[in-house]
Amino acid sequence: MSERIRVLLPEDQVDERINEIGRQISEEYKGKSVHLICVLKGGVSFTCELAKRITVPVSFDFMAVSSYGGGTESSGHVKIKKDLDEPLEGKEVLLVEDIIDSGNTLSCLLEILKMRNPASLKVCTLLDKPSRRVRDVKVDYVGFSIPDEFVVGYGLDYDQKYRNLPYIGVVEFDD
Ligand code: IMP
Ligand code: MG
Repeated sequence: MSERIRVLLPEDQVDERINEIGRQISEEYKGKSVHLICVLKGGVSFTCELAKRITVPVSFDFMAVSSYGGGTESSGHVKIKKDLDEPLEGKEVLLVEDIIDSGNTLSCLLEILKMRNPASLKVCTLLDKPSRRVRDVKVDYVGFSIPDEFVVGYGLDYDQKYRNLPYIGVVEFDD
């Protein structure tokens, strides 16, 4: 069985949308600084591209989580594989995600982060699959709402591949 990638969102469209979100965040955080939390590994490309477009002072931290509970769906319980290096107390925190699917991972992550008393806590995701949502989570900045298809690129992987693609594509299989 071989795979190919069908382009869903070309590079220039993704870039333009990140420009817009960068401008919006810069405006809304005017006079403050923003502490970006990148969720590894999928959030890496988007976090870097977004950070370049933010004009208020930016700091970064990184976190890696895994969803457990078995099966292919995330469970709503996350295990921290790599925790943040710095406390969140008093910081304007913006969690940067690659994609929100069921919302289980995000919902659990927000609970963990809230307990650390940030001054504010918002969420920015490159992609959103609203039709898959099982948890009601508030997402403050959404790059693109997409249909229920398995996508790769811009940090997202299929079997650890395709994270480096500069566009968003759908994996298609032919046999
Ligand atoms: P949730 O807990 O169901 O919202 O899962 C979100 C996580 O599932 C994301 O951070 C991704 O790691 C992964 N994921 C969900 N949909 C896709 C997809 O279409 N492509 C690649 N990874 C995905
Ligand atoms: Mg993720």
